[in-house]
Amino acid sequence: MRKIDLFDTTLRDGEQSAGINLNTVEKLEIARQLEKLGVAVIEAGFPASSPGDFEAVQRIANTVKNSTVTGLARAMKNDIDISWEALRGGEQPHIHVFLATSPIHMEYKLKKSPDEVVDIAVDAVKYAKQYFPLVQWSAEDAFRSDKEYLVRIINKVIEAGATTINVPDTVGYATPAEYGALFKYLKENVRGVEKVKLSAHCHDDLGMAVANSIAAVENGADQVECTINGIGERAGNAALEEIAVAMHIRKDFYNMETGINLKEIKKASQLVSRLTGVVIQPNKAVVGKNAFAHESGIHQDGMLKNRETYEIITPELIGETDIPLALGKHSGRAAFKDRAMTMGFELTDQQLNEAFDDFKKLADRKKEITEDDLFVLFTGQQLADTDTPIYELHNVQVQYGTNNIPTATVTATVPSGETVTVATTGAGSVESIFNALELAIKGEVLILDYRVTSIGKGRDALGEAVVNLRHNGLELTGRDVAQDVLEASAKAYLNAINRQLVREQLRKEELMK
Ligand code: KIV
Ligand code: ZN
Repeated sequence: MRKIDLFDTTLRDGEQSAGINLNTVEKLEIARQLEKLGVAVIEAGFPASSPGDFEAVQRIANTVKNSTVTGLARAMKNDIDISWEALRGGEQPHIHVFLATSPIHMEYKLKKSPDEVVDIAVDAVKYAKQYFPLVQWSAEDAFRSDKEYLVRIINKVIEAGATTINVPDTVGYATPAEYGALFKYLKENVRGVEKVKLSAHCHDDLGMAVANSIAAVENGADQVECTINGIGERAGNAALEEIAVAMHIRKDFYNMETGINLKEIKKASQLVSRLTGVVIQPNKAVVGKNAFAHESGIHQDGMLKNRETYEIITPELIGETDIPLALGKHSGRAAFKDRAMTMGFELTDQQLNEAFDDFKKLADRKKEITEDDLFVLFTGQQLADTDTPIYELHNVQVQYGTNNIPTATVTATVPSGETVTVATTGAGSVESIFNALELAIKGEVLILDYRVTSIGKGRDALGEAVVNLRHNGLELTGRDVAQDVLEASAKAYLNAINRQLVREQLRKEELMK
């Protein structure tokens, strides 16, 4: 079977989408899960774009051993130098250099002639090659580029030392037949194409990213770039789980394999959704909550007689387990630790102890502890807090009545170490909490989006709040979980503000270097 490499760009193209801001610990957690999933390449970020990205890429490169770690760079010496510093500790240092090649990008964005663009690309690849054994070069907006020009510039960058050539449909304009034909054309016309990997990178503006990626593979692409849950710029990128499962379920047709450990898909999907705050649409292929739900009577009847009547993918294939939970109020530490390990979490003794304390508190308040609850407890522990002084919520109290003005009182520690208590009103309970928190942080905050969802089923399910806000000119997303949605909302608000403090701290440390 032909092996197709999956290049995951959740932490770069995915993280680039509106409203997503992951911190280093969260990125590292996702990278570890991507490694377990078995992706060939992890694009961990864009090291020259910010100190936060640099730090995350460096930590991921130094940690991940079984997937190649790469970082994005513009075709500029400075970006390449910074990327080398971030990636040099990796097992197989790999860089991803890009430059636009379509007429519209060259004329209006780069303001360069096609010949100048060839020279810049060649110089950048040669420069990168001095450091990196593996250099991927991307022709940004390749699909809307002149095909003959594309062959000319690709010939030159291969001569300069590029080891992978990526051909993105940056604006999601291609159809499967056209995108496939472009790969066929490149296979037939590029000199030395057999020495490099050809890569597909598709955006989903017309809903064809996965189909286009597969068309590329059928026409000679060796690698597909994709993201978990299909998150990414605008309408997103091709969804990794859809490509991996399609190749597996239809291997009779494609005769290809991706090397993905399919059993890790559900966990990867949940983790990315939880940490980014991007909800998965219920009918999303493979990982949506209705992907295996059979509603109509005729379908249910068929399923009872033979599951294959309506089921082409089993939930077990992607690691969706229905293991009955023998854990409850009376469970001991050993059983708890065992469950953490079965679920794939690697926690220190201290993290396990803290998670166990939280578990006991939760078990006192909640009848049934579900796998979803444990996932929240374990990921919460894995994402240890930073050393930066931050805001911490101690108490939130709300007075609400249909005929009263809602009033919230909030007590929190502020970064100076002081504890403050503030009270104010609002049009509703949540607004009164947000208004009180605005007083506590002494700043102006614009709420852009706010969502509450339940984790798992039942009236006593945990509530997760996601708050997207603007503060000091930055758009930030915060999230948190609590048994009460008002508490979760207050914590999510402060989580967003704390993310900004951590970023500022990193920037200060960078300036002091
Ligand atoms: O969509 C795109 O063209 C990109 C490049 C940077 C590879 O993300
Ligand atoms: Zn992209």
